[in-house]
Amino acid sequence: MTSRSVFTCKKHLFDIPEHVTYLNAAYMSPIMKEAVIMGQQSVARKLHPWETDISDFFDPPDRASTLMADMIGARPRDIALIPSVSYGMATAVRNLPLSAGQKILVLADQFPSHIYPWQEMAKAHQAQVVTIPRPQNGDWTAYLCDAIDQDVAIVACPNAHWTDGSRVDLVKVGQTCRKNGAALVLDLTQSLGVMPFSVRDVDPDFMIAVTYKWLLGPYSYGFLYVAPRHQNGVPVEENWIARKGSEDFARLVDYQPEYRPGADRFSVGERSNFMLTPIAIHALEMLNEWGADAIATYLSGLTDMIADKAQDMGLKVADKAHRSPHLIGLDFKGGAQGGLRDSLAARNIFVSVRGHSIRVAAHVYNDQQDVEKLFSALEDLL
Ligand SMILES: Cc1ncc(COP(=O)(O)O)c(C=O)c1O
Repeated sequence: MTSRSVFTCKKHLFDIPEHVTYLNAAYMSPIMKEAVIMGQQSVARKLHPWETDISDFFDPPDRASTLMADMIGARPRDIALIPSVSYGMATAVRNLPLSAGQKILVLADQFPSHIYPWQEMAKAHQAQVVTIPRPQNGDWTAYLCDAIDQDVAIVACPNAHWTDGSRVDLVKVGQTCRKNGAALVLDLTQSLGVMPFSVRDVDPDFMIAVTYKWLLGPYSYGFLYVAPRHQNGVPVEENWIARKGSEDFARLVDYQPEYRPGADRFSVGERSNFMLTPIAIHALEMLNEWGADAIATYLSGLTDMIADKAQDMGLKVADKAHRSPHLIGLDFKGGAQGGLRDSLAARNIFVSVRGHSIRVAAHVYNDQQDVEKLFSALEDLL
């Protein structure tokens, strides 16, 4: 039996007190205790800048890119380092063609950083954003694939909907995009690390994920996968380190027209990010060691338990076929009861309210006891 098949709760790696039930990774995950030590060390290094070597500008970010590439079946050179989803989307907008009359498809209630760029792009090109309505039966994939035709230039969607975790089958969406000549731009912030994903299966044009939720990393740190077919594109900014030969600090004013190879040109300025990079690296090492398959299996056990208990209480949840392993919305029909989130927080139980749902988001530090505590509180409060 491999270590991946015996995945167990990782609470001991985090600083979550016994009295706290934290089921809100979709809002923000904690980082691990060990990562805090690394972060303290990386902040302290700024006390002694003379100890920062030129290799420190390159090696740690390259390591972070390599770990992300390993996670998604890409090559390290396909990865750029970005601070936010909106930054990655700006890159996609800048590098995808769009003609007047064409369509950009998005899902209803998609996260705003994955909506506003398309609205502005459509306006600039006399194109239109078409919103796929929320399917009654929870099957986003069928609705989305049905809407992809020859007039669609771009499909912009997640793997798990941020409001309730309802799932999109990206392999099918990728196939349908390719058949119709549409580009595919993914925001996997709410799924990468805990849901298996490979660019080899899906072939997106751009894939973006920030680390402060499911990737157990810091805020303002994320990754952009750029398909090889776009790697000669135009970055949103021109940074010195993105240019060929930038490791030779003595010759930076021998201005270079060429970029470093691969997707590096799309990285944000100051991508070396000395303080945050070690924290992101530590988290990616752990996640890759555990493996998204094993994590998903573990979390879907908890999410199934949440779904069963919610249904027993008369709350509506997505069918198992259409929900993700880690994130679930408990639909209160007429909208979540006012103050419920705060009443739960007063009992040290933390979830989010999004739209008409209580959003419950279990990560590797959660266990069955957390689920029991949530439902015994809900039974009291509802
Ligand atoms: C699906 C999704 N994408 C992106 C973000 C964050 O976007 P940005 O990095 O542009 O602030 C969030 C934050 O909640 C999110 O849920």
